[in-house]
Amino acid sequence: MDSDLRQRLAAYLEFQRELGVERLRITPSSLAALAPASAATAAPAPALAAAPRRPQTSAASSMPPFHPAPASDPVPSSLRTPAYSPSGSFASAAAPPAAPPADPAAELVHIRADLGDCTRCKLHRLGRRQIVFGAGNPGAELVFVGEGPGADEDLQGLPFVGRAGQLLTDMIQKGMGLDRAAVYICNVVKCRPPQNRTPESDECAACSPFLRRQLLAIRPKLIIALGACAAQNLLAFKGSLASVRGRLHPLELDGWNTQLLITYHPAYLLRDPSQKREAWKDLQIAMRFLGLPRA
Ligand code: URA
Repeated sequence: MDSDLRQRLAAYLEFQRELGVERLRITPSSLAALAPASAATAAPAPALAAAPRRPQTSAASSMPPFHPAPASDPVPSSLRTPAYSPSGSFASAAAPPAAPPADPAAELVHIRADLGDCTRCKLHRLGRRQIVFGAGNPGAELVFVGEGPGADEDLQGLPFVGRAGQLLTDMIQKGMGLDRAAVYICNVVKCRPPQNRTPESDECAACSPFLRRQLLAIRPKLIIALGACAAQNLLAFKGSLASVRGRLHPLELDGWNTQLLITYHPAYLLRDPSQKREAWKDLQIAMRFLGLPRA
């Protein structure tokens, strides 16, 4: 076994052990699935953090390709909910569906420029150092949406770079077998709430149009909402997070249709590691939907 495959196997086994899996059957096909995916070997996508004003015209086309989903639908209907359009700050205007942007990377740069040195909500005067716009592949088929930047993110200008970010990276890389640079990661609010409190509804309302524009620029096949804040801003629902996770929710934004999966926030998983197994089940739904080899 070559050293790269050995390392990948060790990382995968460690991830499974953290999930509480004690016995695992390794077959030739599971070993084959650990071989580097094309998405994992391509050059990393440029981060879009910290207001890149420079036009990026063709970055999307050079992004790592994603595994195509199989033609037949691998997700049983029991894991789907009926079509749904979000309400509140995410409600679509009654306008006809906008055409997909020709250049998602350039569109993201444009959105970042529109956001500017934002003062639309009170978070700008509550101690934020910088805006954390989002980072990753503008051509991603998978987008993760978190709540809002914490202290590390505020310092670095990048989403999910602290402890919770490390766990998210492990979930993406060790669990799903993707390179973090192949996906796109952003938050509902782009500025750090003081003491890492949950963003308030007026703050989410001020920032949500930018999240919606990011999603409409990237048009991923699947959005994964991390935790209740992201879930509630993308899908109006009553009840607990547990009641909406574990299945795909059709989501319509301005006439464009995609799928939403809701799972636990990595910070919650750090506090209650016993829920990691449930989060792993959610990731497996995502992997099946996206046709990823480890699913
Ligand atoms: N938690 C979040 O919700 N987002 C981040 O970027 C970091 C921690």
